Amino acid sequence: MSGRSLYKNRDALRSDYIPSKLPFREKQITSIGEALAPLLHGSKCSNLLIYGKTGTGKTAVTKYVLMRLEEKASKQGLKVKFAYSNTRIAGTEYRILSDVAQSLGLSIPFTGLAISEVFGRIKSTINSSELKIVLVMDEIDFLVRNYGDDLLYELTRANEQLPQGYLSIIGISNDLKFKEFLDPRVLSSLSEEEIVFPPYTAEELRAILYDRAKMAFFEDSITEASINLCAALAGSEHGDARRALDLLRVSGEVAEREGAAKVEEKHVRIAVQKIEQDRMVEALRSLPLHAKLLLWSIVSLGEANSTGEVYDRYSNICRKNGIELLTQRRVTMLLSELDLLGLIATNLISKGRYGRTKKISPSVQLQFVREVFKEDPVIGSII
Ligand SMILES: Nc1ncnc2c1ncn2[C@@H]1O[C@H](COP(=O)(O)OP(=O)(O)OP(=O)(O)O)[C@@H](O)[C@H]1O
Ligand SMILES: [Mg+2]
Repeated sequence: MSGRSLYKNRDALRSDYIPSKLPFREKQITSIGEALAPLLHGSKCSNLLIYGKTGTGKTAVTKYVLMRLEEKASKQGLKVKFAYSNTRIAGTEYRILSDVAQSLGLSIPFTGLAISEVFGRIKSTINSSELKIVLVMDEIDFLVRNYGDDLLYELTRANEQLPQGYLSIIGISNDLKFKEFLDPRVLSSLSEEEIVFPPYTAEELRAILYDRAKMAFFEDSITEASINLCAALAGSEHGDARRALDLLRVSGEVAEREGAAKVEEKHVRIAVQKIEQDRMVEALRSLPLHAKLLLWSIVSLGEANSTGEVYDRYSNICRKNGIELLTQRRVTMLLSELDLLGLIATNLISKGRYGRTKKISPSVQLQFVREVFKEDPVIGSII
């Protein structure tokens, strides 16, 4: 309470904050603008597919352009509206459509209506108000992976039933594999135009971070070196602006909690560990029960055990607690998932002329796993 705040505007570090300038994205802003421009002349526009790796500005840039477009259109007295749904956050087809309905000012009950009924109400509003709608479906790969392409098929065909209005779609994804799950007709309709967002270079990332740091922090409450470090650390895999901004935000929180007068490199280094730890906690929490049981068997056995030893320990725990065992085959699959998540390590150890054997070791500490698992009622009572 007594310390002076480091922040001029904390919100500028939120991941959904849309800055008034988006440097290094002029080309993408222009391309999206050009694709949508026909709407400002009262004509139809193409559907659009936008892709690029995570943190390359797809969501921010798209929302930015659409907000401008909506403003411009309303000044010209045109009825252009944009609707937005992040399909992963919405989670179901029903919720996606209710996001759309909400953007049109329709109120739809939380559950209860048939999907076709919600869709029908959306279409009749578009028609009766003669609206031109640009529907953004962010993280569209989630929808396709979990529900197939039925909803997209309906949406891309909707214009046939909209004599008075118009609906165009912008799909956004950081994973192109979903295209394989699309019916060729849906794919060709959705990707009438495609725009790619390349990763930021280290230099670009640094400039973006500088701008945001200037907006968020008082001038003397962050060092240049710590901003550079955030950019360098975040850019080590690919130019991911989200990761860089997260790091900056958490570094600020660490410095603030310490009561420091400014954010320095040491705070960034602590922030890196904290983010990594949070990621681990999240990974541990979301494991299914049997993966938790297996991981617990492995951490409690300690270093380098064979698959057989792990399976024995796991079977013992299950039997003692009246839990039905999974087969060896399923267990092998769960083990490779734990390996992928970086929670365990499997090594092939040579036994000279007796060939090689697989050994499993934990990559997380027993104490840490216990702390997280304690919160879970089932596994908590077992450990
Ligand atoms: N050119 C830029 N200038 C300023 N800030 C940017 C720029 N590009 C991205 N950002 C910021 O970086 C963060 C991540 O960007 P965004 O959410 O748009 O990424 P994305 O491509 O949608 O990623 P994902 O595929 O994971 O959804 C946001 O806070 C955004 O404001
Ligand atoms: Mg996004």
